[in-house]
Amino acid sequence: MDVTCVVDDAVQRSSRFWGEHGLAFLIETEAGRVLFDTGQSGTVLLHNLELLGADPATIDALAISHAHHDHTGGLSVLLERALPATPLYAHPDLFRERFSRREGEPRNVGLSLTREELAARFTLNLSSVPQEIIPGVWTTGEISERPDPEGRSIYHLVRDGDTLVADPYRDDMALVLEIGDRLAVLCGCCHAGLLNTLAHVQRVFERPIVTIAGGLHLTSATEDDLRRIGKVLAEIESAPRVYPNHCTGEAAFVTLTLTLGSSVVRPCPAGTALEFPHDTLHLELRE
Ligand SMILES: [Fe+2]
Ligand SMILES: [Fe+2]
Repeated sequence: MDVTCVVDDAVQRSSRFWGEHGLAFLIETEAGRVLFDTGQSGTVLLHNLELLGADPATIDALAISHAHHDHTGGLSVLLERALPATPLYAHPDLFRERFSRREGEPRNVGLSLTREELAARFTLNLSSVPQEIIPGVWTTGEISERPDPEGRSIYHLVRDGDTLVADPYRDDMALVLEIGDRLAVLCGCCHAGLLNTLAHVQRVFERPIVTIAGGLHLTSATEDDLRRIGKVLAEIESAPRVYPNHCTGEAAFVTLTLTLGSSVVRPCPAGTALEFPHDTLHLELRE
């Protein structure tokens, strides 16, 4: 299985990849290609996919972590470029109106396309329970148990009747990849909270997690939260490698690196191909 970061806020120096505030990963297996999220703009998505040699018409399925525009903005170009009836996997709450209000009028930060527009091109598979997209690639389903801190922003709102209320992020899901008998977890924005997401994956999929990648939304986490997350990750027996990017935040990246070490916590700008410790283990055994 090959997993590459297609879109991220960061790019490496001198990289040919383009960066923007957004996220997308490409998952390639013998069973097919899955695009997880689409970044914020079609321009960056298409440019970076081209560098990876992945024509949108060769994508077998789309999976969307949640409705925010920095994950769904590239969908409009895929309406034209992806094959008709390409399956799209997401949570049923994807179409709820979403806003950000920092000052003045609330700004729409949700999906820019309607259900009808998407359904005219894609086969919509909307479910709050885990769905298998292609063999070995799953959505987590809704992360409903959230005893630990969530990845919230005080600015994020949803429409509830005539008023706007705090976004409950019910639509937030991650992807679970089966790497042999172990798991990788790809997060979109992790609004449901990293520890909640990992606990959910362990409960539902019951296998050791060896890789965690994506936006971990720890920008509003307190120092105590960050220390606790580092401690919990350090105590996971399968010693997952962590590739934080997108909305994780610099402070969180530094704290996690200081706690877990730079061989465990890796940067993940656009163009990064994930390495799975599992593969390394096999390589070491073969040598
Ligand atoms: Fe988000
Ligand atoms: Fe995001």
